[in-house]
Amino acid sequence: MKYYITTPIFYPNSSPHIGTAYTTIAADALARYHRLRGDDVYFLTGTDENAQKIVRTAEGKKMNPKEYVDGVVERFQELWQLLDISNDDFIRTTEERHHKVVQEIFARLYEQGDIYKSEYEGWYCTPCETFWTENKVVDGKCPNPDCGREVELLKEESYFFRLSKYQEHLLAHIRANPEFIQPASRRNEMIRFIESGLEDLCVSRTTFQWGIQVPFDQKHVVYVWLDALINYISALGYPEGEKYGHYWPADVHLMGKDIVRFHAVIWPIILLALGAPLPKVVYGHGWFLSKEGGKISKSRGNVQDSFELIRRYGSDAIRYFLLREMQVGTDGTYSEDALVERLNSDLANDLGNFVSRSLAMVVKYRGGVVPKSGSDTSLEQEIKALILDVKAGVEARMDAFDPAGALEQIWRLVARCNKYVDETAPWSLAKLGGQEDRLNTVLYYFVEEIRILNILCAPFMPGLAPKISKLIGRDPGQWEEASQWGVVAPGTIVEKGEPLFPRVDIAQLVEGENKDMDAENKAVGAQAAPEFEPIKEEVSIEDFAKLDFRVAKVVSVEKVEKTDKLLRLELEVAGEVRTVVSGIAQHYAPEDLVGSKVVVVANLKPAKLRGITSQGMILAASHGGALEVLTLEKDLPGGAQVK
Ligand code: MSP
Repeated sequence: MKYYITTPIFYPNSSPHIGTAYTTIAADALARYHRLRGDDVYFLTGTDENAQKIVRTAEGKKMNPKEYVDGVVERFQELWQLLDISNDDFIRTTEERHHKVVQEIFARLYEQGDIYKSEYEGWYCTPCETFWTENKVVDGKCPNPDCGREVELLKEESYFFRLSKYQEHLLAHIRANPEFIQPASRRNEMIRFIESGLEDLCVSRTTFQWGIQVPFDQKHVVYVWLDALINYISALGYPEGEKYGHYWPADVHLMGKDIVRFHAVIWPIILLALGAPLPKVVYGHGWFLSKEGGKISKSRGNVQDSFELIRRYGSDAIRYFLLREMQVGTDGTYSEDALVERLNSDLANDLGNFVSRSLAMVVKYRGGVVPKSGSDTSLEQEIKALILDVKAGVEARMDAFDPAGALEQIWRLVARCNKYVDETAPWSLAKLGGQEDRLNTVLYYFVEEIRILNILCAPFMPGLAPKISKLIGRDPGQWEEASQWGVVAPGTIVEKGEPLFPRVDIAQLVEGENKDMDAENKAVGAQAAPEFEPIKEEVSIEDFAKLDFRVAKVVSVEKVEKTDKLLRLELEVAGEVRTVVSGIAQHYAPEDLVGSKVVVVANLKPAKLRGITSQGMILAASHGGALEVLTLEKDLPGGAQVK
């Protein structure tokens, strides 16, 4: 079966970030899964370079647009390589192969009367590259809730595309094909949007030259969205190319929910006008939000350097975290703490630990030689049944474009395998004597379980497969081998190896980096002359009122083991005791604080620090390296409000 999957082509106006990486990683997991199943996969990604915002960004940097995008596109390609993205092609819309197809299509639509010349008068949002009518614009700002930036008034001669002509045809297609727009919430949104009436779309611009020229009217460049959407077929060599004949229609266009509208309305109408088949599925996933709640995006300034994250945690951990956190139909939350938490619990503790301790036992009790299994008990039968159930569950979730659900299924098996180690207690069997057969069975099961987990995890963490394969002496093989039993031959040699996912201590990581910075500062002779932090942006009184500050009585304090900075405080607040972890150990000894009354932000979402759930934060003032916790001196009880 052929399987054609695409990501959006990304604007190279700034380097890629965790948000942009998510779609590409999810598409990669799907592509790898289908390859393992034996499908003939074609996976396309690329960059959308003919946008007006590219011209603006390049101008700001005093560079020409091509020179500017060449640099950023290299960063995209480098990042995809580091994240083990297995795309078959990378299309850039500045390439000749793409220009040619866009021009042919534009000319054809014009000749058949679907594109006509008129005048555009209305608004344009350059960050969104979107036209807006007067009645949609809100106080001179873009109505896209995630944008809200200034729009510009345009009045220029333009070509228009007759979207309205195809409105009913498109609606009929969406109604007849419930799988066309997914998930269902996006589909309903699109139906409402189309039913409210489609207006013809302005598809050319004359006020700048960067882009693809309208072939018969060189004053005009093609509107960037019309140009960009065509990448999905220009990359296949539309209309005559062999790949186009073989792979089109796409099995799925994967993207964030922000751009489903373009893919579920403009794109299918272009294809309808060309008489070409429509993609089978347009899937819109949620966004990654920052801990503070906003979408992760360069313009919000809340992105972290992805290259640095990969250096710290490796590609597999980042892929696992992002895939696991994005639940169908909702947004995911990204934070480095949460990433480390998942890495330590799911990867190091659950999966990594199972593999190392079980292989260590094969080495210890059988010299690393896989024994021949004895007979099953009900425990083994249960495990075999679970494996089939999990595999079917993963398949169902992947068919629904839900890698998070698929990973949840796999972790049911990981948990069961860990429990199996404890239940069978091979160390006792080894001691007891006369249990050789039973011990052989258990050790054989360990190796088979690892082999099967290796197959199931391979689409999600491609860096892991070669490591596990080396330990058990065989590659993951094909997907179907995950439902076969007895594949590892007795006599195979296995090794214990290094831990697959060493635990990460974020406090130490940050401490280490701070130390490096201190050293750097010293090296350049930096003075400790303290500067005041700039005052932050204004907030409304309503925003301020959302924070609930309370007096808290310090009941007990201890140092958090193996850190220099953290204290664990037990606080009494309104009759209940809560735990707060605070980075003040270099300023206060535990006994300095016991009995005092501090101020705590009582409604802060709990966070895990060093495995301890911290329920709030205490207030402290700091300046130039000095720090003082805010305390109360008279008689107010723990729980009193601070306003
Ligand atoms: N160039 C257009 C797409 C044209 S496709 C024919 C575009 N580019 S973009 O660079 O802005 O990338 C948008 C895509 O990046 C989103 O649809 C989504 O796939 C991904 N994401 C960007 N930020 C994201 C998050 N914070 N979270 C999840 N995905 C995000 O739009």
